[in-house]
Amino acid sequence: AGEKGTATERSFVMIKPDGVSRQLVGKIISRFEERGYKLVAIKSLTPSPALAKEHYSDLSARPFYGGLVKYITSGTPVVAMVWEGKDVIKQGRRIVGATNPLDADPGSVRGQYAVSVGRNLIHASDAFDSATKEIGLWFAPEELSEYEPIAWPWV
Ligand code: PPS
Repeated sequence: AGEKGTATERSFVMIKPDGVSRQLVGKIISRFEERGYKLVAIKSLTPSPALAKEHYSDLSARPFYGGLVKYITSGTPVVAMVWEGKDVIKQGRRIVGATNPLDADPGSVRGQYAVSVGRNLIHASDAFDSATKEIGLWFAPEELSEYEPIAWPWV
């Protein structure tokens, strides 16, 4: 996922079906853009069960795993993205907020827009290794763009 700890660090961020259904896509993307992160890849899709299961494979023993996979693959699409920039993995998690929206900072996406852990709007990679795995799972290398935003030298 780019190079850890540099301006090329990358995180995988996914707006889940509830975020798409509630038409929060633009607001969520704006938070990452306005912070100074660069959009490297984006697509809207309904993930296959195989993709959803692999994405959440670490959680396969958890009681909510089946329901989580069902929700992600429901037919309402997700928006899968790769964001790049300094400390984007950790800062992305701060922008998203705590897993349980009731514990999330009110300034975060979940703290502003959600109340249920099972409908918490968005996923962001929690570490460099998971970001690398997730980006490789959701995107082919040629789907990741190389470019310099006009604002980049200023952020
Ligand atoms: S954490 O912060 O990653 O340690 O949280 P954890 O509890 O391990 O949760 C990991 C992911 O599982 C989702 N989750 C749930 N989904 C549906 N229903 C319930 N009850 C539930 N509890 C946890 C949680 O949102 C995390 O997924 P992502 O997509 O990464 O946010």
